[in-house]
Formats: sequence, C-alpha cells, structure tokens
Amino acid sequence: MSYAIKVNGITHRVDVDGDTSLLWVLRDVLGMTGTKFGCGMALCGACTVHLNGAPRRSCITRVDTIGDAEVTTIEAIGATAAGRKIQKAWLDLEVVQCGYCQSGQIMSAAALLASNPQPTDSAIDNAMWGNICRCGTYVRIREAIKHAARSSGKEG
Ligand code: FES
Ligand code: FES
Repeated sequence: MSYAIKVNGITHRVDVDGDTSLLWVLRDVLGMTGTKFGCGMALCGACTVHLNGAPRRSCITRVDTIGDAEVTTIEAIGATAAGRKIQKAWLDLEVVQCGYCQSGQIMSAAALLASNPQPTDSAIDNAMWGNICRCGTYVRIREAIKHAARSSGKEG
C-alpha cells in the first residue's frame, strides 16, 4: 500500500505494508535514523516521536493509523520553542552519556515543556517515567528540564 505521511513539515509517500511501524518507516524508508529502536514493545521510550505534538512510541504505531497527523522527529524538534530550550539545557547540563536513549528523552521532555512550561517534579516524573536510560542519566534529565523551564519567558 501507499501512504502519505507528513514528517517534519514535509509530506512523504511511502510504499509499505499498513502494519509497518512508524519507527521503521522513519529509519529504513526515509533514512531518519535519529529515532532509535530499543525494545519494539513500548517499554523503553527510545523510539519516541511526536504526533500532533504529543509523545508517541513509534515502534508500536502502525503507519496505517497516522492519517494526516503531523509527525515530528528529533531531527526537527529544535525548530520548536520547547525543543530548542530542551536541547540547549541538555547541552548546558551535559546530560548525555552513551546517547542511545537521548532522542527519546528529548522528545518526551519537549512535549512536556510545550504543554506545561513550569512542570512540577511529579509532572516531570509522570512525563518521563517510560523513558529508560541504561546509563542512569535521570538526575541530569530532571535538572535539565527544570533548567529549560527557568529559561521559559526569557526567549521565544
Ligand atoms: S523501541 Fe519503542 S518503546 Fe522501546
Ligand atoms: S545515555 Fe546511555 S542509555 Fe541513556
């Protein structure tokens, strides 16, 4: 089947089976390898993208369910106000260790900040609990989200 999906503002036509996951369409068909494969079962968060601004595990999202929803990936999250603040905070606080989980972490954090510019600790926990980091960068992730939140209102 042929599907038209809008990714980072550009509509792509892809010829794949309807049950192909968005993750493999992004990585194997469109060559966008910033979104990572971890578990394939919605258990780790490495594959997180945004659908209409909300975080979504792309490994369990069938391409035939996307319709005209807007997909945003790590490759373009820096073009959003929240994504830009999160990425800067990640650099300022040197969050990353091996890096494998981090695109998913950033996507979840950017969605949180976009919907809740001043998240409490419990809001951060609720938004981030499903993103696993085997390097244990959780403390720096939490601090970076707070750092990004403090910068809200200081820039566009
Ligand atoms: S690869 Fe999708 S949640 Fe782990
Ligand atoms: S930075 Fe290595 S798994 Fe998270």
